Amino acid sequence: MNVSALAIEGLEAVDRGEFEDAVLSGLSRHPRAIPARFLYDERGSELFDQICELPEYYLTRTETGILEACAPEIAAIAGPGCALIEYGSGSSVKSRLLLDAMVDLSAYVPIDVSRRHLDATATALRRDYPDLEVRPVCADYMGLSELPGEVNGARRLGFFPGSTIGNLTPGESTAFLRRARTLLGERGALVLGVDLKKDPRRLHDAYNDSAGVTAQFSLNLLRRMNRELGADFDLAGFAHDAFYNAVEGRIEIYLRSLSPQVATVAGRRFSFSAGERIHTEWSYKFDSAGIEALADSAGFVIARTWTDPANLFAVTYLDAT
Ligand code: TRP
Repeated sequence: MNVSALAIEGLEAVDRGEFEDAVLSGLSRHPRAIPARFLYDERGSELFDQICELPEYYLTRTETGILEACAPEIAAIAGPGCALIEYGSGSSVKSRLLLDAMVDLSAYVPIDVSRRHLDATATALRRDYPDLEVRPVCADYMGLSELPGEVNGARRLGFFPGSTIGNLTPGESTAFLRRARTLLGERGALVLGVDLKKDPRRLHDAYNDSAGVTAQFSLNLLRRMNRELGADFDLAGFAHDAFYNAVEGRIEIYLRSLSPQVATVAGRRFSFSAGERIHTEWSYKFDSAGIEALADSAGFVIARTWTDPANLFAVTYLDAT
């Protein structure tokens, strides 16, 4: 076995322990909840990529369309010599739209918890943008308070696409934005992608596609627990349950037990009543007042907002005040 295989094994052992701790404490609490980030194992990430292609899941393609159209304006507002800081870069597909428009960036700083994603992204970008200074940071962006010294002096433009802000609770999103505000500095700005409030039917369908890919994505969490934690969940005994809560302004996503049942996870037994749910994700939706309140809560002001013709999604440019 070579050194990098050992390193990866070591990493996965840590991840497994973290997963087990999160699941055991999440199932011991009431209401039960497992953090959404555990949905994205290898199979989960594949399924999420498929979700992004579904006719009902308008978010990804709508945001991409908006960014294609507004990237030159973002470049003009930001001005020359910025450092572009991407929060949760994944494969950096959307950031390429900004990189193409912002030809005179001083650096691109992708931030991601996945070392593997980050390395692959950095390699691909250095190949495709040979003049670009790529400075990856392997970290959880929620707790990040420092950037590589090389980007000091440059104006910092943050980029947080995908309506990932909507997957945070209101308290978390304010905390995140305040940190971002501090990290990006007095002259900084943040380009934020947010999913908009709309016809509840449309929202519902985006999380309940007719091909059942979203249900598979949800249920994959049970499969992952069975495989990695020696659990014995009956996959046919649970259903994907996602609906729009208009009072809270959010899609709520759960796994729902279809009958009374017992499951064993890492040697511990958990009983579920019929209809009992395990929460996995919130997906908050915003209107213009909500976006303004969000910006305001963290010391940002809205400089510009771009939407698609059907007003499904918004990309907004926030200036630090
Ligand atoms: N960030 C995505 C969103 O809020 C996550 C997501 C889409 C999701 N479909 C899902 C999470 C189904 C759990 C289950 O839109």
